[in-house]
Amino acid sequence: MDFKDYVANVPNFPEPGILFRDISPLMYNGKVYAAATNKIAEYAQQRGTEMIVGPEARGFIVGCPVAYKLGVGFAPARKKGKLPRETVSVTYDLEYGQGELFMQKDAVRPGQKVLVVDDLMATGGTLAATIQLVEQLGGIVVGTAFLIELTELHGRDKISDYDMFTLMQY
Ligand code: PRP
Ligand code: ADE
Repeated sequence: MDFKDYVANVPNFPEPGILFRDISPLMYNGKVYAAATNKIAEYAQQRGTEMIVGPEARGFIVGCPVAYKLGVGFAPARKKGKLPRETVSVTYDLEYGQGELFMQKDAVRPGQKVLVVDDLMATGGTLAATIQLVEQLGGIVVGTAFLIELTELHGRDKISDYDMFTLMQY
């Protein structure tokens, strides 16, 4: 199965000059979505994952089924104003614009082995921010996993200290 057959390439979205890699076709197809989930779950198992953390919103789509498959918890890193209890936060730069992410203080236990999961890595800003949040909470990031890596943006350089698994590279 070539996962790239299930990514829609959309020029100039959400702004001119950005080639948007849309994972919707992959999600719409149950067999392909399951196959992608299984690949990441296999990697997660190898890394000794005890908890999955995924950034809003597409990180939930990829991370939650992996957590279910492994029988471990899922903790969301969310955008401003969404989490009702005490949080830690971090601001970061995106391929388009700026972001701020939050996690609840009891989302990760100190010493817990965490895998950070998202649909796509572009500049690596979201990943670096999510790793920072997990580490502020005392979690140990044992790996990171994505459906898609945009290699030209060199996001890997930002997080070269961490192991990474990606299903597709562009
Ligand atoms: C997208 C994508 C990643 C991030 C990657 O999320 O899902 O989380 O950008 O970019 P980076 O590597 O440059 O940080 P976005 O912030 O667009 O939010 P969404 O998931 O809610 O669509
Ligand atoms: N998030 C950041 N850059 C992106 C891109 N080129 N396609 C899809 N999601 C993205």
